[in-house]
Amino acid sequence: MYKEAFHTQEINKLNFLVTGGAGFIGSNLVEYLLTHQAARVVVLDNYATGFAANLESFKQYKNLEIIEGDICSIEDCIKACKNIDYVLHQAALGSVPRSVENPIATNKVNVDGFLNILVAARDAKVKRFVYASSSSVYGDSKTMPKVESQIGKPLSPYAVTKLLNELYADVFSKTYQMEIIGLRYFNIFGPRQNPSGPYAAAIPLFMDALLSDKNAYINGDGEQTRDFTFVKNAVEANIRALFATLKPGDPIVYNVAVSDRISINKLYNTLKTVSGSQKNAVHRGERPGDIRDSLADISLAQRYLNYNPQIRVEEGLKITFDWFKNEFYNHQ
Ligand SMILES: NC(=O)c1ccc[n+]([C@@H]2O[C@H](COP(=O)([O-])OP(=O)(O)OC[C@H]3O[C@@H](n4cnc5c(N)ncnc54)[C@H](O)[C@@H]3O)[C@@H](O)[C@H]2O)c1
Repeated sequence: MYKEAFHTQEINKLNFLVTGGAGFIGSNLVEYLLTHQAARVVVLDNYATGFAANLESFKQYKNLEIIEGDICSIEDCIKACKNIDYVLHQAALGSVPRSVENPIATNKVNVDGFLNILVAARDAKVKRFVYASSSSVYGDSKTMPKVESQIGKPLSPYAVTKLLNELYADVFSKTYQMEIIGLRYFNIFGPRQNPSGPYAAAIPLFMDALLSDKNAYINGDGEQTRDFTFVKNAVEANIRALFATLKPGDPIVYNVAVSDRISINKLYNTLKTVSGSQKNAVHRGERPGDIRDSLADISLAQRYLNYNPQIRVEEGLKITFDWFKNEFYNHQ
């Protein structure tokens, strides 16, 4: 999937750390780096929500080093950052409902853990630190499409943690002259996204339901919209963010999306067509903390990072469905 190169430097001479590399987006970043012959790829993950199986097919790469460790431990962060040139920080506890149920756990990993890895990266003098923020920081802002400079108040503890990441990143870039870039992901989907557990996202849940004998549930009337973004586009944004030529004063937070929105009903119907299923979804109540509509303006990332998302939602759904059908049930 990652034949095309998004990097503009010779990565075979560079060492990378991917925190959360056993997770969905992290393992896709690892795949990109390994298939493009990065000199060394270190993963730091405690398998809280990720899986060793996500990295199983990359075990033949001698330059992959997996550290089972926790970003809440400064020692683990220091160890992982040793001799690293670039950090792609993905480790976090995702999910708005998880954070509503257990805000302390989400804060511990997403805020304290973030600060640990940022300090370790600073002390290791990494060249650039790119981290996963989230569209949830737009909170109650009514502006559409979402532009980076106009955010509202967070609507969940999870959104607070991602906003705090951005505040720390801003302060660290000014105080310690670190190069730090935050990427506000908008509903990323694709191969290796986990369909199991109470906090699974809509697309893998739908895939799982269409491929097995389970119900697919749509929260509310299903007319809420999202800027669903195929994971390859998110990988492109990360790699471009690592190497973009930026000047002091250029933006340090960027939307990562396609700038196209689709309702949950339409998404489900597209997936029904892709899968050849006749099964209808079951509607249930709305979820607390959910926003109604989400659409990104991606012109900042296009202009400063040279980000040019190639895969639209329909094509991404086909690739993802094929992966679930052919690989997921063998791979767990
Ligand atoms: N998937 C999305 O649509 C989306 C949207 C917005 C933001 N994000 C952010 O992107 C990042 C990656 O998300 P994902 O969808 O790949 O989720 P994921 O749960 O698949 O990956 C997160 C990874 O971090 C690891 N992790 C969790 N706590 C850790 C800890 N204390 N120490 C070390 N590792 C730890 C998990 O085991 C997992 O492998 C997260 O920061 C998430 O908040 C994702």
